[in-house]
Amino acid sequence: MSAGYLDLLGPSAEPPPSPAQSVMQSTFLPRIYEKVWRPVGFNLAKGWPLGPDTATEQATARDWLGLAQPDDATKPPANVLDVACGPGNVTRALAAGVSPAGLVVGLDASETMLTRAAADTPATAPIGYVRGNAVDLPFRDATFDAVCCFGALYLFDDPWTAVDGMTRVLKPGGHLIILTSRRPLPLPTDLGRELVRRATGCTVFGDQEITSALADRGLTHIKHRRYPLMQLVLGVRPPKPPGRAARHLLTR
Ligand SMILES: C[S@@+](CC[C@H](N)C(=O)[O-])C[C@H]1O[C@@H](n2cnc3c(N)ncnc32)[C@H](O)[C@@H]1O
Repeated sequence: MSAGYLDLLGPSAEPPPSPAQSVMQSTFLPRIYEKVWRPVGFNLAKGWPLGPDTATEQATARDWLGLAQPDDATKPPANVLDVACGPGNVTRALAAGVSPAGLVVGLDASETMLTRAAADTPATAPIGYVRGNAVDLPFRDATFDAVCCFGALYLFDDPWTAVDGMTRVLKPGGHLIILTSRRPLPLPTDLGRELVRRATGCTVFGDQEITSALADRGLTHIKHRRYPLMQLVLGVRPPKPPGRAARHLLTR
């Protein structure tokens, strides 16, 4: 905990860095990430000036996840997980929609990103940071009311296992939101797609790939917003089926 986050990976257990992940683990990127890299890169990929800017994106995330907006009088005491939180930019935006009785956990593998996240987060915010692997989430089943994974699924070596984990840690009725890459046109072959992944470490997901992955895992109420090179997807874990006593009442 000495650097302001709970380190569950230790010195050698970090996932092997691809070219893209090496950049994320540098000491330089966390310094310019929130103010320069994120708004410039993501806003262009979302089709700036027609696509949503960062503030609109964050308001949509809070809205779709069932959280409050910063100026709302009442906020839910929700438990939220921000997967691959980087320097905590989205984590803090989510915490602005949660009451002090709630908790937003930011998880990332990069020590430099988490050091920056802890330094930029006020001690009073309902936020805790964990260094862990997004592909092997260190949380119990059905822990979180909401899970968010922005700007990172395309970096994971096994994105579908990561989606399995995000679904697993959602409570029944919980909401999962993902902002990730989108390819506007099909790549000519799977080989082309694999070559892009090997060269850059980034997966460029097809238009229906994320929505189908959430539906395949039993999530419902799927929402899908397409941008030129990105996509925003929401899924809701169905509430628990009624227990035996409730089923008895329902069938009478
Ligand atoms: C582009 S940043 C995204 C930060 C923030 N979520 C946002 O939307 O701006 C991607 C983050 O993913 C993290 N990351 C990549 N692979 C990871 C993994 N397997 N486990 C945890 N974090 C990972 C990187 O360390 C980096 O901080």
